[in-house]
Amino acid sequence: MAINPPVDATSTKAWAALHQHFDDMQRQGIDLRAWFAKDPQRTEKLSFELGDLYIDLSKNLIQPETLSLLAQLGREVGLEERIEAMFNGEHINNTEDRAVLHTALRRPEEDRGRLIVDGQDVVSDVRDTLKRIYAFADQVRSGSWTGLTGKRITTVVNIGIGGSDLGPVMAYEALKPYADAGISARYISNIDPNDLAEKTRDLDPETTLFIIVSKTFTTLETLTNARQARAWLLKSLGERGLLSKDGEDLSAEAIRRHFIAVSTALDKVRDFGIDPDNVFGFWNWVGGRYSVDSAVGTSLAITIGPERFEEFLKGFNTVDRYFCATPLDRNVVALMGLLNVWYVNFFGAHSHAVLPYDQYLHRFPAYLQQLTMESNGKSVRWDGTPVTSLTGEIFWGEPGTNGQHAFYQLIHQGTRLIPADFIAFANTPNPAKDGDQDVHELFLANFLAQTKALAFGKTADEVRAEGTPEAIVPARVFTGNRPTTSIFGDALPPAALGELIALYEHITLTEGTVWGIDSFDQWGVELGKKLAREITPAGSRDDQALAEQDQSTKSLIAFYRAHRR
Ligand code: F6P
Repeated sequence: MAINPPVDATSTKAWAALHQHFDDMQRQGIDLRAWFAKDPQRTEKLSFELGDLYIDLSKNLIQPETLSLLAQLGREVGLEERIEAMFNGEHINNTEDRAVLHTALRRPEEDRGRLIVDGQDVVSDVRDTLKRIYAFADQVRSGSWTGLTGKRITTVVNIGIGGSDLGPVMAYEALKPYADAGISARYISNIDPNDLAEKTRDLDPETTLFIIVSKTFTTLETLTNARQARAWLLKSLGERGLLSKDGEDLSAEAIRRHFIAVSTALDKVRDFGIDPDNVFGFWNWVGGRYSVDSAVGTSLAITIGPERFEEFLKGFNTVDRYFCATPLDRNVVALMGLLNVWYVNFFGAHSHAVLPYDQYLHRFPAYLQQLTMESNGKSVRWDGTPVTSLTGEIFWGEPGTNGQHAFYQLIHQGTRLIPADFIAFANTPNPAKDGDQDVHELFLANFLAQTKALAFGKTADEVRAEGTPEAIVPARVFTGNRPTTSIFGDALPPAALGELIALYEHITLTEGTVWGIDSFDQWGVELGKKLAREITPAGSRDDQALAEQDQSTKSLIAFYRAHRR
């Protein structure tokens, strides 16, 4: 497909100006203590409101001028045009010749008819599918949908992998306080049989509903697990003598009552034995890692309910509208993406920590790993030419305060620059007191303390003043000037989670645009999948397949064959 070649960011005026600016900063010395002391308005100038979120960029290694230059870079590489093209449904995923329309998944009812892409009234299709999902969710929640034996569903088990798992499990964990219908969810993703074994061990088949989620319905892990789950269900019901009545085999009916699917491949789902009435579709313009707000979130719609799910979608939409409408200089979403470019391409940062100070967000870093790394981990641009700078960042993290007692040492005193996003909320659904002390407040003090320590550090003189022996002083110095962004919210209801996810989706697009990357394909996952199919027979049966392997793989298979019991 004919496409405009990307603008080479490194050849723009803004890139050269940013280089100059970076060199000036290095020469004059990066000194957050001094910068804060000199400018009492620094925080005010570098803080933003985004829906329910307050975002403070002031502890980053930037001056207000840096943001202007980064915005200029965005303009020069055509970020505004690419945002518009994405929202309008142009085929910006050019290696797959697809529109990229996850933003349509959260458009409201009144937008029906307002976005026609490739002849499809996209918003109407989305809203119609949501209606079906909500009707089904209501049935399960009210107990009018039952299992084979008439018992209400108490557990939904989502079987999927990658985007068909990470988004829903992250969001379910984050929104657990809103799961109010006595229905819990579990997520099976890994083809390692241990995953399914552990997650079905204590399940009651009579009250379990499986949701098979696969965009393509060809994914090895998901289909294998789905077949295993089907076998488990039939075996467990059979052992209880529940699979036949008056000589009639109830297996097909059991599958109908206990299996539903989410997929774009409706024919393949039917072949699996799932009733087409119980299949919720989505479209090839929704990338797996951008799909949690589509039918892929059905487990969430069931557990938290349609109203909360709508609030979740509204959160995304708030950020979408802001992202489209706000000039780049004041657009915190775009600026956070551009800031990441600043660290990767000018400071040489390789990784980016995301540190939620909220236990409910414990799967958020894992979710972001797919979103950001499957999107931007590429070395050719969308026209097939090599990239011209470092791309991609390694996203990682753990909830605070656990990380503090594990890897923060390296962030505070290591030799690498690791920009970190701290995410926290003023209120918790689980208020607690330890004596007179509010425990959540104690928790938040840690978030504040860490970002403060990273920014301002502790000088040798301050260490000495505490009476530290001279020989140990260097080990106890904190250089400071370690960049952090603070994202602070009132609480984490569904809308705030939607905002947070949309924020990172658009950060990813922004970085990809600067690097000239098609952030919506994922060819890099294909080779391993193909080789796994070829290698599988070599494991036990096929000596010819074994002979075709390289010497290292051969010797590993030989070890496996020798040790397998
Ligand atoms: O292998 C990577 C990938 O294609 C992801 O992009 C996707 O989210 C995941 O596999 C699952 O794919 P599917 O939903 O088609 O099963």
